[in-house]
Amino acid sequence: MRVLVIGSGAREHALVLALRRDPAVTALFAAPGNAGIAQQAQVRPVDPCAAEDVVALATEVDADLVVIGPEVPLVLGVADALRVAGIPCFGPSAAAARIEGSKAFAKDVMSAAGVRTAHSEVVDNPAELDDALDRFGPTWVVKDDGLAAGKGVVVTADRSAAREHGAELLEQGHPVLLESFLDGPEVSLFCLVDGETVVPLLPAQDHKRVGDGDTGPNTGGMGAYTPLPWLPEETVTAIVEDVVRPVAAELVRRGSGFSGLLYAGLAIGSAGPAVVEFNCRFGDPETQAVLALLDSPLGELLYATATGTLAQVEPPRWRDGAAVTVVLAAENYPGRPRLGDAISGAGEGASDGNATVLHAGTTQREDGALISAGGRVLNVVGVGADLTEARASAYDRIAAIKLPGSHYRTDIGLAAVENRIEV
Ligand code: GLY
Repeated sequence: MRVLVIGSGAREHALVLALRRDPAVTALFAAPGNAGIAQQAQVRPVDPCAAEDVVALATEVDADLVVIGPEVPLVLGVADALRVAGIPCFGPSAAAARIEGSKAFAKDVMSAAGVRTAHSEVVDNPAELDDALDRFGPTWVVKDDGLAAGKGVVVTADRSAAREHGAELLEQGHPVLLESFLDGPEVSLFCLVDGETVVPLLPAQDHKRVGDGDTGPNTGGMGAYTPLPWLPEETVTAIVEDVVRPVAAELVRRGSGFSGLLYAGLAIGSAGPAVVEFNCRFGDPETQAVLALLDSPLGELLYATATGTLAQVEPPRWRDGAAVTVVLAAENYPGRPRLGDAISGAGEGASDGNATVLHAGTTQREDGALISAGGRVLNVVGVGADLTEARASAYDRIAAIKLPGSHYRTDIGLAAVENRIEV
């Protein structure tokens, strides 16, 4: 099978590495990729959002399967263009991707499917912002009502900070979504979905704030771990049965059945799981940890999803143990990151015993030096017999990487190790 992966982050690097482990995958291409992905796949400088160019590349490389990583090309209909060209694609249609692209659509689907989620209101007029804030909080949850790569969300007990963020979004012409705060630890559950067939992967937990102890602003994700020793198995079953299946069925009923990865982000509160958000693609950085434990051929699972035969393949098998992803971010991230610095210690190739270095925002200079090119620069994924060992694998490896001004959280998975998470 010849596979083309679309995207350029550590999530796509993890997908490429997992696909390489599938003996059925005979050729791997990526567009545009990054300096790390280029070590394992043939990379091509194609814009992921340019549907015609992606179709042309998939045709040129004779791809049997295209896997689209990021949400923006999905929301823009790149998967639809590939399907029209007769090329199997892992990723939903633009109509189904609205589950992430439009929070109002997602709320409507959840309401019709009877799924618990936060109460919300959309504000598009600055004159209505103060009254609307008074109907919520504390704690206030203020979101950009569109795609913002996680950085459009402010969760705060400070009304003036909530107001400032809402006013800033409105000034930029972005409608604001106010939500009631959902209490309880967060879970990311990724499900392969092909119409009404739903196959869950391992549950994971993201760490969205920039600083240790969940301090500082929200980011695109500073680290993740899987599995979740504090999450009862029956809660995963309940999420699949009471949340993901009803939403998948509702999308089919509306004529926009989902094909790809449906990501349920939930808070596990005293009344049970409630949805914080749905995404239409693999989550970043949770995917990097989840795929590190996958023991089944990834290409087969993705191809079956893309071709409507998911119900006929074996459910995924998992390696014992745990995996932890730690993100190395550039100076000043999640603000305007410092770019263009030389990175040392990332190593050649990806894997080194129990630790794998994945590239996110990297590029290679003409002289061959590895250079930072994004806010999240590298990820290190550690595996081990348990979370303590997986953390040790990741943190030992990341300590050997040098990038001026860079930072990473030192507490990824620590609350779980110390039994500080309660459902
Ligand atoms: N882990 C957050 C996201 O992928 O949106």
